Amino acid sequence: MTAFTINGRAVEVAAAPATPLLWVVREQLKLTGTKFGCGVAQCGACTVHVDGEPMRACVFPLSGAEGRDVTTIEGLSEDGSHPVQRAWTEMDVPQCGYCQSGQVMSAAALLAQNPSPSDAEIDEAMRGNLCRCGTYVRIRAAIHRAAEG
Ligand code: FES
Ligand code: FES
Repeated sequence: MTAFTINGRAVEVAAAPATPLLWVVREQLKLTGTKFGCGVAQCGACTVHVDGEPMRACVFPLSGAEGRDVTTIEGLSEDGSHPVQRAWTEMDVPQCGYCQSGQVMSAAALLAQNPSPSDAEIDEAMRGNLCRCGTYVRIRAAIHRAAEG
């Protein structure tokens, strides 16, 4: 058993220690907002927070979550009121939407550490999150909007 908290809820999960956290989150805990893209830490679609740090859940082993706080897009806010979520809506960021929960989680982690990032800092923090629809300009604008509060 691996015990950790997810979105503020204590859980115990029975699965092999090497199981990717992404499978646990989606299949066992039924939190399907976190997406599977590449499976090899190259796209960012699966980004969650572990103790506030953005992590690629597709390559993060379940054993690494033991005793830690995991947050998924479902836990960022109860009602979509997190500043990043509000900015995303105001700036109409998503196109197909597939990459967006990962984008939002990376952006939220960035702003938690750096409340007023420059364009260069945004690009550096977000460069591991790919968007096949090319929403990068709106993502950057929304992060600045969220930083304004
Ligand atoms: S699915 Fe994890 S980085 Fe692409
Ligand atoms: S909105 Fe379609 S992949 Fe990013």
